[in-house]
Amino acid sequence: MSLPSRLDSQQRQGAAQDAAPDERPILQVRNLNKRFGDGCAHCLPAHVEHPGNRCPRCGSVQACIDLNFDLYPGEILGVVGESGSGKSTMVRSLYFDEDATSGEMFISSCKNGESNLLAESAQQKRYIRNHVMGMVYQNPYLGLRMSYSSSGNIAEKLFAADHFHVGRIRERAAELLGRVEIPLGRMDEPPKRFSGGMQQRVQISKALANNPPLLLLDEVTTGLDLSVQARVLDLIRSLRRELKVAMVVVSHDLGVIRMLADRTMVLRQGRIIEMGLTDQILEDPQHAYTQLLVHSLL
Ligand SMILES: Nc1ncnc2c1ncn2[C@@H]1O[C@H](COP(=O)(O)OP(=O)(O)OP(=O)(O)O)[C@@H](O)[C@H]1O
Ligand SMILES: [Mg+2]
Ligand SMILES: [Zn+2]
Repeated sequence: MSLPSRLDSQQRQGAAQDAAPDERPILQVRNLNKRFGDGCAHCLPAHVEHPGNRCPRCGSVQACIDLNFDLYPGEILGVVGESGSGKSTMVRSLYFDEDATSGEMFISSCKNGESNLLAESAQQKRYIRNHVMGMVYQNPYLGLRMSYSSSGNIAEKLFAADHFHVGRIRERAAELLGRVEIPLGRMDEPPKRFSGGMQQRVQISKALANNPPLLLLDEVTTGLDLSVQARVLDLIRSLRRELKVAMVVVSHDLGVIRMLADRTMVLRQGRIIEMGLTDQILEDPQHAYTQLLVHSLL
């Protein structure tokens, strides 16, 4: 990824200032923990570090450890860290793809922001993710039904969010696919016939179908050609500008983070080791690990 121009940086700061700092967070995450495996007394306390977070006694992995953060309306929070640092596990836990081991999560538009959504029933979680969240997976095979039509993929998300008027669903699918520049003549084609960049754009349009205030994007541009990456990044920036949707953007590519994120969280072995304004994190990293990351990847 090439370095963004000065203009990019100014635009991003402008966008960050649009979100009033005293606004209520749309998302609050408190002490989120995710362990793979049953755990044992030796795994704990959580501050004990094992290589790769894997407990030498029982083999459990502490993928996310006491994660705490807020996300404001319209804000983009970047998440960086080496492979295995827990980035995907974090967003998958927020989207209820994984059951968090412990912790709390509040969304301002759900139950007045006062109920810990991680403790809700499976049925409630399904309702919440269908109505207030969108997710874009690194692997489009996880986010799309490859042999359904593209419009059918969007219809599925709209059905899940309780929209049943077939004519309006089709209109909305056409509008969304148009928004991500999929030609209208191809809306009935299955994504398996599309290029990687087009598949990611169909995933984004599907994730936006229910107008969610919160979008989770996991390595959305990884593996795409540079020119295709640039178009997807432009799309994400314009969606934020126009729809004011708040996003958590996971990427190991600091060029992507620099271009998109207002604030950035650095994960290492399941823990947040640094968090702050993206410019500060990238230009004046405090933690030795972040310094290494910035200097090796930029
Ligand atoms: N289903 C699973 N079962 C057991 N361990 C898992 C599972 N999923 C993830 N892990 C472990 O949890 C840790 C965090 O993995 P995760 O996929 O969240 O990392 P990541 O930061 O997204 O890495 P990458 O940059 O490679 O995508 C790793 O040690 C991984 O091996
Ligand atoms: Mg990952
Ligand atoms: Zn253990």
